[in-house]
Amino acid sequence: MTDGIQLVPFEEDSYYQDPAGFFARLRESRPVAPVPMAGRGRAWFITRDADVRAALADPRLANDVHHFPGGGRQRPSEAAGGVHAHLLNTDPPVHARLRRLVWKAFTPRRVARLRPWAQEVAAGLLDEMETAGGVTDLLAAYARPLPGAVLCELLGVPAADRGWISAAVEDYGTPGEADRVTRQLSAYLTELIAARRADPGDDLLSALALVRDYVSEDGSGVGLTDTEARSLAFQIIMGGFGTTVNLIGNGTLALLTHPRELARLRADPSLLPAAIEELLRFTSPLNHATDRFTTQDMTVGGTVIPAGEWVFMAISSANRDPARFPDPDRLDLRRDTSGHLAFGHGIHYCLGASLARVEAEVALGALLARFPGLSLAVPPGELRWRPDSLMHGLETLPVRLA
Ligand code: HEM
Repeated sequence: MTDGIQLVPFEEDSYYQDPAGFFARLRESRPVAPVPMAGRGRAWFITRDADVRAALADPRLANDVHHFPGGGRQRPSEAAGGVHAHLLNTDPPVHARLRRLVWKAFTPRRVARLRPWAQEVAAGLLDEMETAGGVTDLLAAYARPLPGAVLCELLGVPAADRGWISAAVEDYGTPGEADRVTRQLSAYLTELIAARRADPGDDLLSALALVRDYVSEDGSGVGLTDTEARSLAFQIIMGGFGTTVNLIGNGTLALLTHPRELARLRADPSLLPAAIEELLRFTSPLNHATDRFTTQDMTVGGTVIPAGEWVFMAISSANRDPARFPDPDRLDLRRDTSGHLAFGHGIHYCLGASLARVEAEVALGALLARFPGLSLAVPPGELRWRPDSLMHGLETLPVRLA
């Protein structure tokens, strides 16, 4: 670009390995920072809590690429299998309609019903770990299988298909695999939704297939199209998997590397819900919100971002902003975490936040109760973080069980 805007150097691997360090430097020196970005020319990181919060609620930042200034664009997933018509790819008023319909199907009762089921799955996984003994990769043995199983149960995926679906979702992040996984899941969900429309069960997919907005004159109601129902199911699987895996993985690592806080939690398990909020703040499973673009020139924190530019609102940076949280780099399970942005803010606030909290409570509660001597099996400095801009998660987490 030739508009004279000086880019901030961006070294991908050092960002993946230490996003908190990268964001701390930006918050201090360039809180609204343009960086070079492969495939996009440049993109902007917004890093201070007040700016991130305001930007997440600002309708001038849009998600639907058909609204891109100077001509709409296509999402890659649009070509790859018709799973693009979901909440994070839409702007008002389409977003409001989808969200209203999804809320009717994704009820608090449905989430509450999953808790005992998730407890059983967790107990089974812990049994297997205990039998195997020794050093275990906690991600492979526990943090990944649990959310995969919960999401399949939520949607009503038949037991026979759960194994390959969980494997496919894990493969999605492997370079070159996203299109194949998208097409495979899209074809599968199309068939399953048709089957559920014909013969509904007591699951979220049936509820999505049948949900209606009673706006038509004859009272028959208007529901989700097949593409919308398929896209929402796809988004729930994708949005609910890696995020929760990372909360369990990153959260466990944070506890194991802060023995005083871990001892506090072990001494008082009623601290668990508050501990999870602090782990969400401190370890932020997502580095930033999903990509938005400016629909017009806008000034953020005194800096003008021109129209038609990609913007990343760094929620994990906001969660470590000393202007919001005193001594933010300290893990403190008893601190006031209200207003953390780990689940986002504004109209796109996480749909699955209550389910994620249930899963984390079940996962961490059961893990700590089962293995009182749980410890890291390698020095923390040897752990590697996955090369992913959006998600902040470990490659592996080797732990010793006793
Ligand atoms: C620890 C776990 C989770 C974290 C940290 C998390 C975080 C987030 C964040 C930050 C957003 C907003 C993204 C943005 O504004 O660009 C979001 C949106 C969303 N999340 Fe989650 N999420 C988690 C678990 C889940 C689960 C379990 C589900 C589904 C069962 C889910 C489904 C969604 C959906 C559908 C949206 C889009 C909402 C909308 O656009 O209106 N998430 N999540």
